Amino acid sequence: MASLNDIRSTFLEFFERNDHRVVASSPLVPRNDPTLMFANSGMVQFKNLFTGLETRDYSRATTSQKCVRAGGKHNDLDNVGYTARHHTFFEMLGNFSFGDYFKEAAIPFAWELLTKEFGLPAEKLLVTVYHDDDAAADLWKKVAGLTDDRIIRIATSDNFWMMGPTGPCGPCSEIFYDHGPSIPGGPPGSPDEDGDRFIEIWNLVFMQFEQYDDGSRTDLPKPSIDTGMGLERIGAVLQGRHDNYDTDLMRSLIEASANATDGAPDGPGNVHHRVIADHLRSTSFLIADGVMPSNEGRGYVLRRIMRRAMRHAHLLGAQDPVMYKLVPALVTQMGRAFPELTRAQPLVEETLLAEETRFKATLDRGLKLLDDELAALPEGGALPGEAAFKLYDTYGFPLDLTQDALRERGHAVDVDGFDAAMAEQKRKARAAWAGSGEAADEAVWFDLADEHGTTEFLGYDSESAEGQVVAIVRDNAVVESADTGEEVALIFNQTPFYAESGGQVGDTGTIRFENAVVRILDVRKKAGLFVHSGQVETGSIGSGDNAQLEVDHQRRAAIRANHSATHLLHEALRRALGDHVAQRGSLVAGDRLRFDFAHSKAMSAEEQATVETEVNEFIRQDSAVETRIMTPDDAQALGARALFGEKYGDEVRVVSMGRSADSGVGPNGDTYSLELCGGTHVGRTGEIGLFKLISEGASSGGIRRVEALTGAAALAHVAVQEAALTEAASLLKARPAELPERLRALLEERKAQAQELADLRRKVALAGNGASAPAEAENIGGVAYFAQALSGVSGKELRGLIDEHKSRLGSGVILLVADTGGRAAVAAGVTDDLTDRISAVDVVRAAAEALGGKGGGGRPDMAQAGGSDPTKAPDAIAAARSLLQA
Ligand code: ALA
Repeated sequence: MASLNDIRSTFLEFFERNDHRVVASSPLVPRNDPTLMFANSGMVQFKNLFTGLETRDYSRATTSQKCVRAGGKHNDLDNVGYTARHHTFFEMLGNFSFGDYFKEAAIPFAWELLTKEFGLPAEKLLVTVYHDDDAAADLWKKVAGLTDDRIIRIATSDNFWMMGPTGPCGPCSEIFYDHGPSIPGGPPGSPDEDGDRFIEIWNLVFMQFEQYDDGSRTDLPKPSIDTGMGLERIGAVLQGRHDNYDTDLMRSLIEASANATDGAPDGPGNVHHRVIADHLRSTSFLIADGVMPSNEGRGYVLRRIMRRAMRHAHLLGAQDPVMYKLVPALVTQMGRAFPELTRAQPLVEETLLAEETRFKATLDRGLKLLDDELAALPEGGALPGEAAFKLYDTYGFPLDLTQDALRERGHAVDVDGFDAAMAEQKRKARAAWAGSGEAADEAVWFDLADEHGTTEFLGYDSESAEGQVVAIVRDNAVVESADTGEEVALIFNQTPFYAESGGQVGDTGTIRFENAVVRILDVRKKAGLFVHSGQVETGSIGSGDNAQLEVDHQRRAAIRANHSATHLLHEALRRALGDHVAQRGSLVAGDRLRFDFAHSKAMSAEEQATVETEVNEFIRQDSAVETRIMTPDDAQALGARALFGEKYGDEVRVVSMGRSADSGVGPNGDTYSLELCGGTHVGRTGEIGLFKLISEGASSGGIRRVEALTGAAALAHVAVQEAALTEAASLLKARPAELPERLRALLEERKAQAQELADLRRKVALAGNGASAPAEAENIGGVAYFAQALSGVSGKELRGLIDEHKSRLGSGVILLVADTGGRAAVAAGVTDDLTDRISAVDVVRAAAEALGGKGGGGRPDMAQAGGSDPTKAPDAIAAARSLLQA
């Protein structure tokens, strides 16, 4: 018997032999569609190839696409477990032609694969075509020899396929398998077509049109082909089963579920096992594709599926968490075809276990409340909305979980009442907020968040994605459109742009609309919305428009490296300086990082070197950076570092990196750095490249601040330093390593020369170099007065000269004025025998005044001052003379 894995390979290999490129499934979260919650068919990743917006080096492709139909437009959640063919997760096999072949080849391919490769008997097959598609009907007649009664014309939208309200579309032709008269049901188009006898196994879409918002349609550049065949369905047919859940793959998961619980795959708990098997696949693949449980958007769909599965495990009597134990069975089945699942296995297990542990805490109490409520209800009565809301709000029961629980007992929920209770809670939150004194101009964001829900962030996994404009805001008011040159704040339903938080700066980048470009300069978070601020560079944009959002990749890469390096730095500082080191602030920008931490004294050069070396060691270790979501308590139990005084929500993101033998063997194992963090990080530490501390200083009392560079910026910094060093070395004709020694010698030499020079100057001065000065002392009323204007002498040297003149004269008053290069220095000396009559301070003040200076100080025997105009030296000498004459 061919397994589902064999069937998938047979399909892909058949089309590969027929010149199709085998393309990997795209992630479940579409990157190229702004409105789709999850990939729901194979063509999603090729949307732009059909419309001609994008071309690749192939025009035929084949895939096995992961699809999730839960939440959003296609939602099969409610039916899972109770029917033979509903799944929240399934694989869609498909072949695609992008303007290459059309129906004339698609129909023969399909027929050959089904009847030759898969060996299905031709007489078991019949097809539908769109009612006016004669070409397709003729082809089926010719290629497959089908008679008219087995080519059924259908006029409804059942045979016209559209991806969504807009996008590529076209008539289709579906292939059905007839399980034979023993099973009730009629052929497609007949009144009892919903019976199980005729099962649709393959849909061939003849892509011809593009549908627009306003309902109009244009032709695609070239007719194309999109087909979809559910692997589980064709698997059931080929394995002679009627129920998808009886195929080998699903069966092995059902058995795994039974082994972990009641031991009876086909016992009374069969429905629960089916639900668990299905939900295990969707939750595991969603987590592997980066979705994390949360209370918003995709994360909430994931949470709803997880909790639903957990309730079914509970109904099987499981006391302990179950889902995480089933992941190995899934990886065994599907890990080869989807390596991302194998890679994410630890993350998937951990996320499931955490969610199960957490939900267990309220599940029992919630179910008890539900029982009490039901006991009070009349038969078939609806559960009051208030009660459903309480289950939601207090016990974490998603509405559909409550509905699922009631369904078995024949009750429904008063959904209007539930909605009203929800609206009332929002109103209260809003009133509380309005009273909290936040600026009135912030009200616009609160209103928008209320109306549209918060922005979904896609930027942990991608830096470009499509988004739909939810609102355009100018000057704090919502506007419908904006034109070239205008500054705008844009809100999208989803975005890859990071909004400033946790020290990491907001992303910058470009947003391309069909006919406009907006340059984004910053992104901030307001009321859970990501506010993209920028300017319309060309064209005009309108609310509701779709756009391609592209983050500045280079800058983001640098920010990532700086953020991860900050975590390594934090840990290295703690290890080098002590446990008291706690983060007090940080800036993670594209060009550098800054980190403030509690530490009372400056770091020594050795400490800085130790920290820098250790960070670089962990960079070279090139270990994977891992992200997990958990409760703050669990994170704390692991020893994750959190920001002091910071408020954390129900869930925190924990980022870990580095392996270190001395990190201990606690729950956190050998992880080097473990921090609560919402930022973006490198995949492996090696991407940081290089880490360089560039400054260390005081930030404020008891807080130190270091700045550092990583990667290219660190290298550029080193290059600048090295160039300076090389230049200095070449000036000294030395090797860089010899520079310190050579500089020390030069400084010594310079000191000796300066001394020598000073001696020489003194000698020259004493020998009377001043041209304007009399060589001998004058006699003023019996007091010898010696005055001299000097050049090439510093102010400091004047004192020594005064002393020498004093001893030469024996008794007298000396005044020396020096030109110190544009400024004047003046010194006066009075020999001790005269100080009771004349003060050097008075003499120097009189002289300084003539030099354009003020004041002057010293003692009666020696005083100094300065002046601004050395050319006035003769006036200064004269002024001192007048003072002595008076
Ligand atoms: N896109 C088509 C479908 O999903 C093949 O049915």
